[in-house]
Amino acid sequence: MTTRLVVPRPYRLDVHPIGPGEQGLAEDARAGLSASPKSLPPKHFYDERGSDLFERITRLPEYYQSRSELSILTRIADGLVARHGVSELVELGSGASRKTRALLDAMRDARSLGRYVPFDVCPEAILAAAGRLAEAYPGLDVHGVAGDFDRHLPGVPERGRSGRRLIAFLGGTIGNLEPDARTPFLESVAELMEPGDLLLVGTDLAGDPGRIQPAYDDAEGVTAEFNLNVLRVLNRELDADFELDAFAHVALYDPGPPWIEMRLRSLADQVVRIGALDMDVEFAEGEEMRTEISCKFTRPAVDDAGLVLEEWHEDARGWFAVSLARRP
Ligand code: SAH
Ligand code: TRP
Repeated sequence: MTTRLVVPRPYRLDVHPIGPGEQGLAEDARAGLSASPKSLPPKHFYDERGSDLFERITRLPEYYQSRSELSILTRIADGLVARHGVSELVELGSGASRKTRALLDAMRDARSLGRYVPFDVCPEAILAAAGRLAEAYPGLDVHGVAGDFDRHLPGVPERGRSGRRLIAFLGGTIGNLEPDARTPFLESVAELMEPGDLLLVGTDLAGDPGRIQPAYDDAEGVTAEFNLNVLRVLNRELDADFELDAFAHVALYDPGPPWIEMRLRSLADQVVRIGALDMDVEFAEGEEMRTEISCKFTRPAVDDAGLVLEEWHEDARGWFAVSLARRP
């Protein structure tokens, strides 16, 4: 009798200091909780539980963004890969790397499947995805990088010498950056590109608030749980004592920018202790703390973001767009 050992295919994961004990969260919490109005940066949503909750969001009936973006990627992937000779895919904020498969399938079919570099702040998400992908695409070189794309992009491995590199930034995550941060961010992304390399960016499009707002405030309450997850992260990592029941999820559509603003509203006058920061934070009843913005775009707004647009693809309903850009 033989025992068959299933050995996972090899892949590599470089982890930059982002986790517990690292200064990022403590500094962000100290600054954000002493500001007026209070705010927290969104990267801290994504511990293992947060990443799982986001995956559930992508399957909600209200969250059309993932299905729209996948329909576009499926339609354009073959042409894009063939026209540009793409052999290496770097994905920023890769999460579960599900839509990525449309691009990897096209690279496999074009026989140019070289390397995939998932980059995410959540190492657990990269590990799970890397295992699945290395299994599904024999011969694919998976080299994950766990880090903060605001600080650790120089940790992306050197570009391969042959073929072209495609950098994908999907899921509308560019909309989670403050507008002023977009151009400097794209400049740091450009450092990873050689002439001929390409950047693929997914953006949620401005339009009917009746479609957009519910995508951030679903009936089942998964988004609320996701938003509140940042308080669990603070409780665990910074020895804080947030009562999750004492805060409510708010998703506000602001037509001005336009964007969706995610907030947590304090349901009572309360004082929260942040042990690791030796800090007491007062919340008034009804006070709202910003946890995320999600900007909604038009084609001119994407042009203004500092991208040199080559192609613009919308889904059939005009709700979401995927743009292909050159090195800015
Ligand atoms: N691309 C996936 C996930 C989008 S959610 C999709 O389209 O479904 C945003 C992703 O970006 C999460 O996986 C989150 O962990 C990651 N992320 C958020 N802020 C980040 C940061 N500062 N650095 C690196 N990754 C970040
Ligand atoms: N990139 C996603 C978006 O803007 C992130 C997201 C979706 C999100 N739903 C959320 C962030 C709810 C915070 C809360 O669409």
